[in-house]
Amino acid sequence: MSLPLAASPTPLLRVDGLRISFLDGDAVRGVSFALSAGDVLALVGESGAGKSLTARALLGMVPREAVVKGRVLLHGEPVTPADLGRRLAWIPQEAMSALSPVHRVEDQLAFAVRSVARVKRSAALDVARRALAEVGLGPEPAGAYPHTLSGGMRQRAVIAMALVNEPALVVADEPTTALDPERQEQVLTLLRERCAAAGTALLLVSHDLAAVRRHADRVAVMYAGRITELGLTERVLGRPVAPYTRGLLASLPEAGLPHRSRLPVFTDAPHTPGAVAGTRCVFAPRCPGADELCRQREPVLRVVDGRSVTCHHPFFEETE
Ligand SMILES: Nc1ncnc2c1ncn2[C@@H]1O[C@H](COP(=O)(O)OP(=O)(O)OP(=O)(O)O)[C@@H](O)[C@H]1O
Ligand SMILES: [Mg+2]
Repeated sequence: MSLPLAASPTPLLRVDGLRISFLDGDAVRGVSFALSAGDVLALVGESGAGKSLTARALLGMVPREAVVKGRVLLHGEPVTPADLGRRLAWIPQEAMSALSPVHRVEDQLAFAVRSVARVKRSAALDVARRALAEVGLGPEPAGAYPHTLSGGMRQRAVIAMALVNEPALVVADEPTTALDPERQEQVLTLLRERCAAAGTALLLVSHDLAAVRRHADRVAVMYAGRITELGLTERVLGRPVAPYTRGLLASLPEAGLPHRSRLPVFTDAPHTPGAVAGTRCVFAPRCPGADELCRQREPVLRVVDGRSVTCHHPFFEETE
């Protein structure tokens, strides 16, 4: 039986048994998923779950002290540093970390174009200006220095920069958290639309479940370095089966998801890396449905109700 990890049998990106370790233990512990062209996959989970490390590992951008195991394959080939800015693009949380303060926005995009294609400066500038116009930045902001633009405009420029070389995959780690709620929605919509128009896949790390529900085709819920539940967004967020996903959603306000819902923090302490050596379910100490099996054996990812779940007792519901 094949796992419903990808819509197509030959995915654009395959992550296989990704493990990221530091001296104090494993922070990402065997993460596997796949992405097809044009797919939007969201990574959600509490702070420290391993979302950013997983996202960065796709681009080879993990901290130097990290030991990375497992495979990341793009079109069936290992990702190399040369893929960054060409086949893979990165959108960080803070736009200024992707933009140089000393160059005009359009010049930065033109430089990015010329770093992958042998074209004249004027032709690259044309491509840059078109890309900026597509995200709603006309000649004036395009010719400005980044610090003179608003936060929303800067993040639009970063989106244009990420997409200018038509990458196969954009990885965005909380790309809108620095913006106000209205701008967040505008920028996310723009990002998704531009990716859809180019057939670019998007991996979106987010704390905002309401936004994930609106923008992601599929969602992977991470807990303590593992994927707890992965499947179509409407299934996983609409009818979650893993106790962790259920807990996450149950603690949001009843009347639908608020515009800017943050992932709730459970009342007890979250998992810390290195605390468990694979001998029990990592969520067992906080899980209302945990039994002896959960405390003795770590569950493996399996297919339940059309999604992948890492849980011995999916569907567990508290009865009182
Ligand atoms: N350089 C590092 N050295 C040691 N541990 C690290 C390092 N970077 C990350 N970690 C640990 O790895 C775990 C996962 O980190 P990561 O940044 O991926 O979390 P996250 O899910 O993105 O959280 P957040 O929602 O807060 O951004 C954390 O517990 C963190 O302490
Ligand atoms: Mg993070």
